[in-house]
Amino acid sequence: MTTRIGVLASGSGTNLQAILDAGLPVVVVVTDRPDVGALDRAAAAGIATVVVDRDQHLPDREAFTRAVTDALVANEVDLVAMAGFMTVLAEPIFEAFPNRVINTHPALLPSFKGWHAVEAALEAGVKVTGCTVHVATAEVDDGPILAQEAVRVLPGDTVETLHERIKDVERELYIRTIREILERGSVQ
Ligand code: GRF
Repeated sequence: MTTRIGVLASGSGTNLQAILDAGLPVVVVVTDRPDVGALDRAAAAGIATVVVDRDQHLPDREAFTRAVTDALVANEVDLVAMAGFMTVLAEPIFEAFPNRVINTHPALLPSFKGWHAVEAALEAGVKVTGCTVHVATAEVDDGPILAQEAVRVLPGDTVETLHERIKDVERELYIRTIREILERGSVQ
């Protein structure tokens, strides 16, 4: 595997920023909506950006996924790192990048899959949660686990305070895991 990373992001992009600051070889950032922090961060770093607006594609998830995949292929990406990407992707991306799409999730999978992982962990009353880097598949928050790190839930934690502490750990874990993938030359 050579080292051309495409990052998929939807939000503030702090994971993306950490990946950029670590000097990892990101060649394109794809977002699913305009006006997100991740685009500004990519632009500031001089990285190519592509917006595949979900509102122009959904409910046609296949067409949306094909447009995202086309952008990655056009930029000769060989590792796709999802970093807070908020649209579920369909098969085409996993066919184009078999075993080469990774994701970070703010919980200890297989617990608390889905969009509200931090809230669900708080509601369940767990004392320890964390984050997981895993191989992404068409099944959301599924796929082989590559790395995990625990984060303690503190008395008085809110979704925001807990998510922030998870994200501090998550950014480090994601960078470390990507570095290992690049060194190994394969995701697994
Ligand atoms: C991360 O916690 C990620 O795991 C979750 O959304 C958050 C993205 O944060 N899916 P950011 O946009 O990288 O700051």
